[in-house]
Amino acid sequence: MTEQQRTRRLRKYEANPENSSPSSSNAGIELLSPFGPLITKTKLSVELIDKINLFADQHISKTESSEFMLPEEIVFGGVPSLADTIGRLINDYVKEAEGSQLDRAIYEVFWIVSQYQNTPSPVHFHSGDISGVLFLKVPEKTDPGQEERNYISGRKAGYLNFIEGNKQRFSKSLLSVKPEVGDFYLFPGWLLHGAEPFIGEGERRSMAFNATLEVK
Ligand SMILES: [Fe+2]
Repeated sequence: MTEQQRTRRLRKYEANPENSSPSSSNAGIELLSPFGPLITKTKLSVELIDKINLFADQHISKTESSEFMLPEEIVFGGVPSLADTIGRLINDYVKEAEGSQLDRAIYEVFWIVSQYQNTPSPVHFHSGDISGVLFLKVPEKTDPGQEERNYISGRKAGYLNFIEGNKQRFSKSLLSVKPEVGDFYLFPGWLLHGAEPFIGEGERRSMAFNATLEVK
């Protein structure tokens, strides 16, 4: 079996990042896919992205991948603050996932991940109840054909891969999303995720956070 054929056979385990609701061409058939962790995607404002990037620009290495924490003034300063903006989104998330109201989000840490080519983010989970990833920069120029560079079953170079469960027939276990500046994903802290290294010029920069939640 060729590499291409093998990849195609594994496609059925991938969720569609553009449309999380499966569709059917048969009228009268309702498709239910109720299990699994909730992931939400939204766009944060250009003002917040610029503010975080301005701080990060002064702390990143221009040549090597690095990680560093965001100080409190960046997280809690400004109107609306980053923490308030994310708090509102967490409130919506909790309502959607559990039907409950958020009482308090206790933020543990916000940090920046700055990566250059050939840097992997091995699959991992976070501490706390809920986590988020915000994309701040994407590489300007990547290797032609990078989009087709599959590691296994659609885990594309530089994409954020969420992994849940095993290779099980009729069940999705992978969601691979393309980093776009401003895109913000909320997900349970226990959900496995990672990124395969990209090849190209420039920086892939993201912000992550962990929080524990008190709900009413
Ligand atoms: Fe992570």
